[in-house]
Amino acid sequence: MRTQVGIVGAGPAGLMLSHLLHSAGIESVVVENRSRRYVEERVRAGVLEQGTVDLMREIGVGEGLQREGLIHHGLELRFSRRGHRIDLSGLTGGSTITIYGQNRVIKDLTDAQLAAGGQIFFEAEDVSVHGFDGTKPTVRFRLDNTLNELECDFIAGCDGYHGICRPSVPPAAFTEYDRVYPFGWLGILADVAPSSEELIYVRHERGFALHSMRSPRITRLYLQVAPDEDINNWPDEKIWAELQRRFETEGGFRLKEGPILQKAVTGMRSFVVEPMQHGTLFLAGDAAHIVPPTGAKGLNLAIADVRVLARALAEFYSSGSRRMLERYSEICLRRVWKVQRFSWWMTSMLHIFDDDNPFDRRRQLAELDYVTSSRVASQSLAENYVGLPMDWGA
Ligand code: FAD
Ligand code: PHB
Repeated sequence: MRTQVGIVGAGPAGLMLSHLLHSAGIESVVVENRSRRYVEERVRAGVLEQGTVDLMREIGVGEGLQREGLIHHGLELRFSRRGHRIDLSGLTGGSTITIYGQNRVIKDLTDAQLAAGGQIFFEAEDVSVHGFDGTKPTVRFRLDNTLNELECDFIAGCDGYHGICRPSVPPAAFTEYDRVYPFGWLGILADVAPSSEELIYVRHERGFALHSMRSPRITRLYLQVAPDEDINNWPDEKIWAELQRRFETEGGFRLKEGPILQKAVTGMRSFVVEPMQHGTLFLAGDAAHIVPPTGAKGLNLAIADVRVLARALAEFYSSGSRRMLERYSEICLRRVWKVQRFSWWMTSMLHIFDDDNPFDRRRQLAELDYVTSSRVASQSLAENYVGLPMDWGA
């Protein structure tokens, strides 16, 4: 088998890359180790930046988004039992965010890809990458007990944090930057209408909490818990009781409760690998970096990476120039580090760190007071939250 770009992983990064390459007349094949159903049902991110939404529309996969995406013009920061609205649109000259589940993004991209005759191999086993140091990059994988070898010009490692592409590179070629947070998020999906029209980020003495949604009938909620928290310690009644305490306001706010459809605990980390390329292997999305979810940036950052990669590959195939490909990592990392900064800042402003002393707690409240009372400070939050403009490295 032969193609121009071999893509490992059918997450947002891999599927969007394949789509962008197809639009530029470049062939690719996607190799994914999970089933199509698993990938399309996995509950993850929900907030799309303005730029991600614009891109999906531009490339013709915006129909579901148009029909079911929930456009938000603001969000709420809640602390000391009071809510403060951040007017995202008013502070950014009209930008918005859209709530649309990551699984829906995946489904729309997969449908479009397969309809256009694109190749995605699901349930591939023993996926491995070779030859990216020299001139013969290949992706090997087993399908129905048959070994396949996909020869290509380039390999895109879009296989997430636990994938095989990053560990296939000799460790000395990379520098890794890492921070693990002393907490995780317990996330639930509940069969009940959202309790507010907008997202609510809560800083509470008992820990962070977040109100989000997936549709006018489905609510998504999160609680800060210990990083190794056993989900079995959290029967549904305990989850609702804890959520009600953290969301409480002076005005007597109550969350609407309903059956819990799904619950899970996720650890939190910040991680970056530099550079994001090695020979003809290019890492994109979670394979190259992880952000804590407090800034709602993981998926959007993955999309930004592959936009740069697709443009660099298009430049190569149309002119033979490797100029932009050589700068891929440098161009992406400028955005990656700004998004890391923002995600770390949102996380540290809103979570309770056990080793913080009373001074730290008061400083944290002063930070929230400043962000919600100063136009300049809230504008900075809004600018980052709706998404920084693309940087093409010109
Ligand atoms: P992924 O979505 O991880 O896709 C990688 C793909 O590669 C997967 O389909 C995987 O099955 C496949 N793969 C892995 N190994 C192999 C292999 N060996 N061979 C072939 N294929 C392979 N972000 C937010 O903004 N908000 C959130 O609420 C949020 N919640 C999250 C919850 C969880 C549990 C996780 C893990 C992430 C969450 N994120 C969230 C982050 C966001 O979902 C990711 O940043 C985003 O999915 C990155 O996309 P990606 O395509 O780079 O990687
Ligand atoms: C979500 O809806 O899942 C969500 C929203 C905002 C975040 C993280 C997750 O910061």
